Amino acid sequence: MTRAKLVGLLLLLAACAHQGATAPSVVGHNGMVVCTEPLAAEAGLEMLRAGGNCVDAAVATAFALAVTWPSAGNLGGGGFMIVRMADGREIALDFRETAPAAATRDMYLGPDGKPVPGRSTIGHLGVATPGSVPGLCTALARYGTLPLERVLAPAIALAESGFPLTRQHVAALNYSRKLLGTNEETKRVFLQGEQRSVQPDLARTLKRLAANGEREFRDGETAKQIVAEMQRGGGLVSAADLRDYTVIERAPVRGSYRGFEVRSMPPPSSGGVALLQMLHMLEGFELRSMGWQSAQARHWIVEAMKRAFADRARWMGDPDQSPIPVDAMLSPAHLAAQRASLGDRASTPDAAALPLQREQPQTTHLSVVDAHGGAVAMTTTLNGSFGCGVTVRGAGFLLNNEMDDFAAAPGVPNMYGLVQGEANAVAPLRRPLSSMTPTILLRDGEVVFVTGSPGGPTIINTVLLSILAHVDGALDAAAVVAAARFHHQWNPDRIAHEAGTFAPAQRAALEDRGHIFATIFDSQGDCHVIQRDPRTGRLHGAADPRGGGRAAGW
Ligand code: DON
Repeated sequence: MTRAKLVGLLLLLAACAHQGATAPSVVGHNGMVVCTEPLAAEAGLEMLRAGGNCVDAAVATAFALAVTWPSAGNLGGGGFMIVRMADGREIALDFRETAPAAATRDMYLGPDGKPVPGRSTIGHLGVATPGSVPGLCTALARYGTLPLERVLAPAIALAESGFPLTRQHVAALNYSRKLLGTNEETKRVFLQGEQRSVQPDLARTLKRLAANGEREFRDGETAKQIVAEMQRGGGLVSAADLRDYTVIERAPVRGSYRGFEVRSMPPPSSGGVALLQMLHMLEGFELRSMGWQSAQARHWIVEAMKRAFADRARWMGDPDQSPIPVDAMLSPAHLAAQRASLGDRASTPDAAALPLQREQPQTTHLSVVDAHGGAVAMTTTLNGSFGCGVTVRGAGFLLNNEMDDFAAAPGVPNMYGLVQGEANAVAPLRRPLSSMTPTILLRDGEVVFVTGSPGGPTIINTVLLSILAHVDGALDAAAVVAAARFHHQWNPDRIAHEAGTFAPAQRAALEDRGHIFATIFDSQGDCHVIQRDPRTGRLHGAADPRGGGRAAGW
């Protein structure tokens, strides 16, 4: 080896070590799909190679994740999709689960008026009417180009022929073994061994879907199987709930940050509004010159997080059931007041401290960009890992426990320690407030960055940090997803963080300002990003090194 080559190799190794030895970004020119499971990413890429657009690829990936990543990929849950079509159309598709018509405000409370542990999280009563299948079918029909049976083909093949389980898949099963053991059908379908997953029931369900379209989940055999499952276990989702479920097309929330245009999810997600609030607060500070990971920058970031989460708790819920003051929350006056309230000392929440929960491998995000510059950011969820643990007998898929995203008792924390208000109380046909924050950045009208993550309330902050890493840190995709993460949700008054995020001196400097450090997350989020050079169309994709995902590009 020549001396020059040796020096080059050493520099490369040093760069890798600096970035936590993560894989480099994947480069593509014609399209890119990034998600948490390699086979599902390949399913999306297959659509792009076949001439499909970003929506075709996103839908194929989501259906494949329902097979290969059952802790969060799903047919029995819901999600959000931000789409920026190559022709400039922008859509926020809301296929969030919805409370059954028979739901009642106090259904999760015991005689003492307190939430009964497990009632909204384990078993049939936690299930909200699923929206994933109507949502994905609607997206495909309105904005895709390929037929449903084509985008379902990879998922059907994976369910029918099976696939080897990854380390991450086995870890997710082990993590939730107790929950999975609470339901006989779930045990039979998902605890079949640790080598390979073959899912004949699910393959049959997907084939019926391919043949009958979304009607299959509204009044077809699968709908009947869901209703029968609900009746077996005392769940509330009815035939009418499934038949009448509505996919809602909304306008994305729009804002800007240092010359980038931001498109994200409006209510019933709290994510987009909170993100825009935080970005506005932070735009007032020169994060880049002070170092976006410096103590000073992190002080501002944490203070911005607190204020956005305080507003979330106070104001947010389903916009179709009670007015959510989005315009007021994003008004110049309110944003200016929020920014002006940031001070040199840590502010403290005005409520008692509550525990934060550990993160689980739940919820999943995928990012897609196609050859024409169209993009999709989509986050889907069963809420808890493997949802409520109930598999629809004979249909091969799990049901969500999204009812826990409501405030069972306004003011009392849910499984993420989130305190929420009246606007998010349980009510029939209401959509529970979410934190999912699929987001696309544009520059001069062109897609330049696609991002999103799982992680309950940490999602909003993981997405924020990915944007700061891209804009203020000027990092490349692999470094964006590898960068250390932290989280503050106003209440409890604690900075939760990954080990190693704060060097001792930085932590001491922040403690001097009044910040409190507590929970250490094993990891925060599973963020998948794509960067796009608007001049050349060149794409850089990276899956989060915390998970087992893949960027698949060509
Ligand atoms: O919609 C929400 O905000 C939650 N159901 C998301 C849950 C989640 O991300 C769990 N992830 N690790």
